[in-house]
Amino acid sequence: MASYHEPVLLKEVLEGLNIRPRGCYLDLTLGGGGHAEAILKRLDPDSGLLAGADQDEEALEFSKNRLSSYSSFHAYYGNFGESPLWEKVDPLAPFDGILMDLGVSSHQLDEGVRGFSFSKPAALDMRMDRSSSETAWQVVNRFSERELADILFRYGEERRSRRIAKMICAHRPVETTVELAEIVRSCFPAAERRAMSLDPATRTFQGIRIYVNRELERLERGLEEAVARLRPGGRLVVISYHSLEDRIVKNFIRTESRDCLCPKNVPVCVCGHKASLKAVHKKVIIPEAQEKEENPRSRSARMRVAERL
Ligand SMILES: C[S@@+](CC[C@H](N)C(=O)[O-])C[C@H]1O[C@@H](n2cnc3c(N)ncnc32)[C@H](O)[C@@H]1O
Repeated sequence: MASYHEPVLLKEVLEGLNIRPRGCYLDLTLGGGGHAEAILKRLDPDSGLLAGADQDEEALEFSKNRLSSYSSFHAYYGNFGESPLWEKVDPLAPFDGILMDLGVSSHQLDEGVRGFSFSKPAALDMRMDRSSSETAWQVVNRFSERELADILFRYGEERRSRRIAKMICAHRPVETTVELAEIVRSCFPAAERRAMSLDPATRTFQGIRIYVNRELERLERGLEEAVARLRPGGRLVVISYHSLEDRIVKNFIRTESRDCLCPKNVPVCVCGHKASLKAVHKKVIIPEAQEKEENPRSRSARMRVAERL
C-alpha cells in the first residue's frame, strides 16, 4: 500500500481533524487512502462515518479496494470544486471534519502514462480526471505563444515564461513529456542549470498541470463549499504543496475569520460579512525533519487548520 502514496503529516492531520469515534468526516482527496485509513481506524465502526472522494477514478478504485473492509467508509467520484460531488455528499452533512490533501499523488506522478512527470516518457496528458476534455497536449500545441507564456508565469511562477513559450511554439508539435522537458531545459544556460536545485522543467510542468486541472479555481470553490458543510466546532484541514495554493488557503482562512470586510475608511459596516472560521494554529504546520528525510515528497507540504464557528 505504501508504494501508492505515503500520507503526509499523518499525525498532524489526525490531531487537526480532532477525530471523535462517533464523528462524521469527509476526505476530499482520497488518493491512495492513506489518510482515510488512519481516520477509519479511529472511528467507531457502527456510529462513525468517513466519506471519501477523488476526481481520479483510478485512485477511487484503489481506495475502495483498500478500504473495503470498513463498513463506515463511503466513496464518491467527483471534483471538490464542482457541484455534482457536493450534491452526492450533502445527505451526510454536516461534517465534524473535512480534509483536503491537495495536488497529485505519488502514484499519479510515478505512473508514466499520466504525463505528470518530466522524467517519465509519456504523452502530454496531466489530467487528474481523465474524463475532462483538455489535456496538456492541447495547451502545449494549440494555445498561442502569449497564452502559454501567461500560464507558465501565472501557475508555474516561471520567470523565463516568454522564452520557454517561444521555444515550445518553435518546436511544435511537441508530443511527449521528455521532449517538452528538453525544450524547457534548453532555455537555461548550462551554468545556471547546474546551479539549480530543481530540474528547470519543474515550474513549466507545474504551471501546465495547474492550468489543465484548474487547480486554483477549484480550490477556491472547494474551500467555500467545505466550510458550508462543517458543523460548529468542525475542523477544516488543508495540506498544500506550493505557494500559490497555500496563499489561497491562508487568505481564505484569514478572510473567513473576520466579521467585517469593509475597507478601513468605512465607519460603519455595510458588507454584513460574519466570521465563519477561526484559525487553530497561528503558524503554518510543516513536516518534521525526519518525515522530510523519509518522504522527500513531503518537503514542500504546508498544513493549515481552521475551526467552524
Ligand atoms: C496528494 S493526493 C492525496 C493522497 C491521500 N491523502 C493519501 O493519503 O493517499 C491528492 C489526490 O487528490 C485528488 N484531487 C486533487 N484535486 C482534486 C479535486 N479538485 N477534487 C477531487 N480530487 C482531487 C487527486 O486526484 C489525488 O488522488
